[in-house]
Amino acid sequence: MSTPILELRDVEAGYGPFRALFGVSLEVGHGEAVALVGANGAGKTTLARAASGLLTPTAGTVLVDGAEVGRGGPSAWRFVRAGVVHAPEGRSVLASLTVEENLALSFHRAFGRSGLAGALERAYELFPRLGERRTQVAGTLSGGEQRMLSLGRVLVESPRLLIADELSLGLAPMVVDQVFETLSQIRGAGTALLIVEQQVGHALELCDRAAVLEHGLITWQGPTSEAGAVLESRLFETATTELK
Ligand SMILES: Nc1ncnc2c1ncn2[C@@H]1O[C@H](COP(=O)(O)OP(=O)(O)OP(=O)(O)O)[C@@H](O)[C@H]1O
Ligand SMILES: [Mg+2]
Repeated sequence: MSTPILELRDVEAGYGPFRALFGVSLEVGHGEAVALVGANGAGKTTLARAASGLLTPTAGTVLVDGAEVGRGGPSAWRFVRAGVVHAPEGRSVLASLTVEENLALSFHRAFGRSGLAGALERAYELFPRLGERRTQVAGTLSGGEQRMLSLGRVLVESPRLLIADELSLGLAPMVVDQVFETLSQIRGAGTALLIVEQQVGHALELCDRAAVLEHGLITWQGPTSEAGAVLESRLFETATTELK
């Protein structure tokens, strides 16, 4: 078997004295798409951040291509350089710059001057709305449009592994469909995915495998075809426990 792009081994992480992950192990192989599902507060965002170097685990290791990244403190840029990119939560746009200036800033860094025009074209293809509003100041875009802008910046760079935390949060259903269509295209082009998503149906449709996180522990992993039944029984168990 080839070395996975990403491997978490017995990762523990938390915030000060609070522990959020209790020894989590998870792999994402080349071109594979994995959905991470679980209740609010289960630790999904913490896992996504540890998997992309934004948070230092208190124990365990994070391996990219079989090698430990960031011995002596992980830095997100080492992950980015290895092609592991965390799609920013919320609206990470520069409010006083136009749509095109925001995109150009990222693409110039990623592709250099010669690749800029092509990258802009791809972004506008992915999100035609951004093309229509290219001269608008980003701070005045609607919430959904700002999400598209921050997403466009990441997706055009075609990372080897995209770690996406709640991409669809706050987007209208039609835009959510569009985002998942885009993820599916990116996947088709060879990018591996680790998807954290409240829209579980969409995520399971897109992914090969699913992992269920409960109270900081992975309690189930398997093919997405089996995940629906598992989740249904888990949710039922949770609901009945809470009723007691
Ligand atoms: N900065 C922080 N300081 C203290 N505790 C935190 C911090 N961030 C998260 N937590 C706690 O860690 C636990 C896991 O949070 P996390 O954000 O990983 O959950 P999640 O599965 O992403 O939840 P959601 O579905 O609501 O986004 C929660 O109990 C949360 O309150
Ligand atoms: Mg979260």
